[in-house]
Amino acid sequence: MSLIIAIDGPAGAGKSSAAKGVSRLLDVDYIDTGAMYRALTWWMLEHDVDIDDPASIASHAEDPQVEITWDPEQSRVCVDGIDVTVAIREQQVSARVSQVSAVPAIRSRLVQMQRAMAYESARSGRGVVMEGRDIGTVVLPDASVKVFLTADVDVRAARRAAEDHVRNPDSSTGHLDSALANLKDRDAIDSSRAASPLTMAPDATLIDATDMSLDEVVAAIAALAGERS
Ligand code: DC
Repeated sequence: MSLIIAIDGPAGAGKSSAAKGVSRLLDVDYIDTGAMYRALTWWMLEHDVDIDDPASIASHAEDPQVEITWDPEQSRVCVDGIDVTVAIREQQVSARVSQVSAVPAIRSRLVQMQRAMAYESARSGRGVVMEGRDIGTVVLPDASVKVFLTADVDVRAARRAAEDHVRNPDSSTGHLDSALANLKDRDAIDSSRAASPLTMAPDATLIDATDMSLDEVVAAIAALAGERS
């Protein structure tokens, strides 16, 4: 039985870094589901879809072709054949992604794709660590390990601003105030939406990373995986 690890939690809690670390340590596939929501948001912006109108978003939910690689060293996202790995981290995508991901037609399409990817990893015997907002609750309710990773909002904003700055020193992102405002907005929309809101699964383990290093978080998740396997 392959290992299936679900990591959920609010923006900036360190889910991607933790999931990549777990993927390397345990040699399992890595899937960043947020990148898929970001990719569809990038496409909607590129095609001038009215993001304030959920019906317009829903009418285009099936249009973009999304491809994602599952490797922690080379995570790449393509939409309609265009590599958008860098573009999906831009501020204009971060500012609108929660609205796009609240639309049920978008969620049902991506949840289906995510399940297929996870089951393919499991079937092939590789195992998978998948991170997002609804992995333990909706996408993979039978995951062997479920983690809800969180941290104080100020710590999350500082980390996100530093990451954005490293990724793109010239862009308007990378400022603490804008990172904090964006995280608070996204937390509010992601937690209050009707379709699979961000909540902790009853059988998930809560990890508060406020005072933990990345290595400590990875070790804690690997220990849970060791207990379950
Ligand atoms: O993990 P991230 O910050 O890149 O995610 C971007 C947005 O995508 C986030 O604000 C909410 C949405 N998302 C979601 O609704 N469900 C997921 N499984 C992953 C992300």
